[in-house]
Amino acid sequence: MTDRILILDFGSQVTQLIARRVREAGVYCEIWPYFRGEPDAIRAFEPAGLILSGGPASVTEAESPRPPQGVFDLGMPVLGICYGQQAMMQALGGAVEPGDEREFGRAEVDVQAASPLFEHVWHAGERHTVWMSHGDRVNALAPGFHVIATSKGAPFAAIADEARRFYGVQFHPEVVHTPDGAQLLANFVHRICGCGGDWTMAAFRAAEIAKIREKVGDAKVICGLSGGVDSAVAAVLVHEAIGDQLTCIFVDTGLLRAGEAEQVVTLFREHYNIPLVHVDAAETFLTRLEGVDDPERKRKIIGATFIDVFDEESAKIGGAEFLVQGTLYPDVIESVSAIGGPSVTIKSHHNVGGLPDYMKLKLLEPLRELFKDEVRALGRELGLDEAFVGRHPFPGPGLAIRMPGMISGDKLAILRAADRIYLEEIRAHGLYDQIWQAFAVLLPVRTVGVMGDQRTYDYACALRAVTSTDGMTADYFPFPHDFLGRVATRIINEVKGINRVTYDITSKPPGTIEWE
Ligand code: XMP
Repeated sequence: MTDRILILDFGSQVTQLIARRVREAGVYCEIWPYFRGEPDAIRAFEPAGLILSGGPASVTEAESPRPPQGVFDLGMPVLGICYGQQAMMQALGGAVEPGDEREFGRAEVDVQAASPLFEHVWHAGERHTVWMSHGDRVNALAPGFHVIATSKGAPFAAIADEARRFYGVQFHPEVVHTPDGAQLLANFVHRICGCGGDWTMAAFRAAEIAKIREKVGDAKVICGLSGGVDSAVAAVLVHEAIGDQLTCIFVDTGLLRAGEAEQVVTLFREHYNIPLVHVDAAETFLTRLEGVDDPERKRKIIGATFIDVFDEESAKIGGAEFLVQGTLYPDVIESVSAIGGPSVTIKSHHNVGGLPDYMKLKLLEPLRELFKDEVRALGRELGLDEAFVGRHPFPGPGLAIRMPGMISGDKLAILRAADRIYLEEIRAHGLYDQIWQAFAVLLPVRTVGVMGDQRTYDYACALRAVTSTDGMTADYFPFPHDFLGRVATRIINEVKGINRVTYDITSKPPGTIEWE
């Protein structure tokens, strides 16, 4: 038994939050699609406990997803959340019915009995706020269980079989709207599963460095720096592991923001003394993108061009075997799609765009177990400058995907100028750190305006700024109107080629953060 938890995913929108809370409690965990949770696979992973997530299906339907046979015979603690609770009840001999009273959003639960799940926070007789989102509910308990909390719409809001260490909650402890939820999950992993709390970035750093050394041996490694925090943290970590076997490559694609190349090169050469090759490949990228307006084709061309550049540079340093990528955990989780079937490709994401299959280099992905805020914590642990750790993400395909339609040098110059003004104002107003990502988008639309006494016929630009915790979901940032007015005035006055500015108020979903 190790200090790790396994989460079986039944397709809830918030499964990742369960993982976040467990890790915040200092315990490593992974999310698997529920059907991968066969007892043998679980035993091989050696978790100290299981969490069954919520999900959009109804256990009252024959085709709905079920935990694999035998997960309740492993002798380990199980916590079922919402759908997970209902699936557990059904598997163990209880009953579930469609509730006549659906509960969505804030609800109150009345604590009926003490339980290790509630330790330090909830006591019998108290009433507490939770967040519910369910139609079905448990209406008969499986043998061995008793009720530890009730709510108006769910008489079995929390249940326990203390002997077998099985627990179920109808509400969602993983969301912030359940104020004590993080503590309940911490109780489950520490008090009930017996996990320590030593999953820290210091421990991760040491373990990962050992893994990198073992995997790489004395091979040479290259790392493409994008200017974003992920590739920077990956590079510094790998450098700590294998020193000068690592060469970083910063490719100027011609698709970068104003001043970006200089900032990255200065940071790496001056602060870290990491061997860095600065390749100016702008002409190659822009030539290959000429006349292309399809977003996926742009991404594919950029991905392939990056690899060509890496191959060329790797040959120059005498043959590298590995390419470091700043892939993060949200990119590798195989979530269960809520609509069933394989999830559709929304965009060919990659640190450097869509990587082609023929790539010769093997991938080294030291951050693939981490969430974005954990990468930032690791960056701090590695001593990276705060200005760098707190930087907004910037996509590998760069400004190419912030310019719907065809790309040209002139349009890039216009976009860079508008983007620089926008970010300058955001920083000057002290808003940078409240925003996940902010950028300008140059639209392929020209509109009529009037400046002085002259008619203008220039491009429109859109401003985008979102809040998010991991880039998976996002909301637009509520700038004060006068801030937007000021940015629009400055852009229209100072950037030749733009005569109209709009603000994008789409959340994700249904929008995505980038426009392409
Ligand atoms: P979307 O647009 O899919 O973006 O909502 C989510 C987050 O991912 C970033 N992004 C990328 N990052 N390579 C990257 O390194 C890419 O190809 C890529 N495409 C999108 C985007 O900036 C946002 O932070």
